[in-house]
Amino acid sequence: MSTKEDIAIQRQALNRTFDDLWGCFDMAERVLNGEVLPDRLIPNAGSPDFSPLTELLIPEPLPPAGSEIDGCSMEQLKKLVSSCTKCGLCATRKNTVFGEGVMMPKVMVIGEGPGADEDATGRPFVGRAGQYLDKWLASIGLSRDRDAYIANIVKCRPPQNRDPAPDEMAACIAYIKRQILLVKPQSLLCIGRIAAHAMLDTTDGVGKLRGRFFKYDSIPLLVTYHPAGVLRNPEYRRPVWDDMQKLARFLNIPIPGRS
Ligand code: URA
Repeated sequence: MSTKEDIAIQRQALNRTFDDLWGCFDMAERVLNGEVLPDRLIPNAGSPDFSPLTELLIPEPLPPAGSEIDGCSMEQLKKLVSSCTKCGLCATRKNTVFGEGVMMPKVMVIGEGPGADEDATGRPFVGRAGQYLDKWLASIGLSRDRDAYIANIVKCRPPQNRDPAPDEMAACIAYIKRQILLVKPQSLLCIGRIAAHAMLDTTDGVGKLRGRFFKYDSIPLLVTYHPAGVLRNPEYRRPVWDDMQKLARFLNIPIPGRS
């Protein structure tokens, strides 16, 4: 694929070729008319502007699909998300919820999608589930402000907090993938089925996926239950605690109560 500079150079060369050709024909006509002798040829005085023709013959390269996301900075990505209309969720959102936190954090938490509180504020995990998530992080000595980056698979709230549809997730997935590349976390924590399925491209349940490390793009990735699910199902508390301890061990964080 030619770059913009390649295209500009090609156009310049073609312009000069047309210019030279014009000069040759002009000069040939003048020689034939006996106006000048061939050994006293002078440069062509003025040829037409060939640039519309060369632009037509050498068009601008089309950007490859997804390239606007692939090459962009965090600020540019945030801007793209804020004006995104790639799926139907844009019609009902109040705010996009891009994600927030520190760069190169100990953990990047990936949730499902904004709920009502997140939609209202534009910030991830600020409702009840978010406050519970903060406690999970605190249980292994991590704080959202210092050690984490938090984002979701879909950046707009699905109405009535329904699961994001496959086409909505497909439309949004490039954003979180670019975010991970830019954030450069030490580890990824997928909370809930939707995040795990999207990041690991599987349909296995959380019960099967949790408790062991996977890798996403060489980054260790752990799956656990979603805080909203744990609030509804207290029997998930123990496995979540085990998963958080596993994360702490990986991050070399001393586990409370153990020497
Ligand atoms: N649940 C999620 O998955 N993400 C949020 O941001 C809030 C609740």
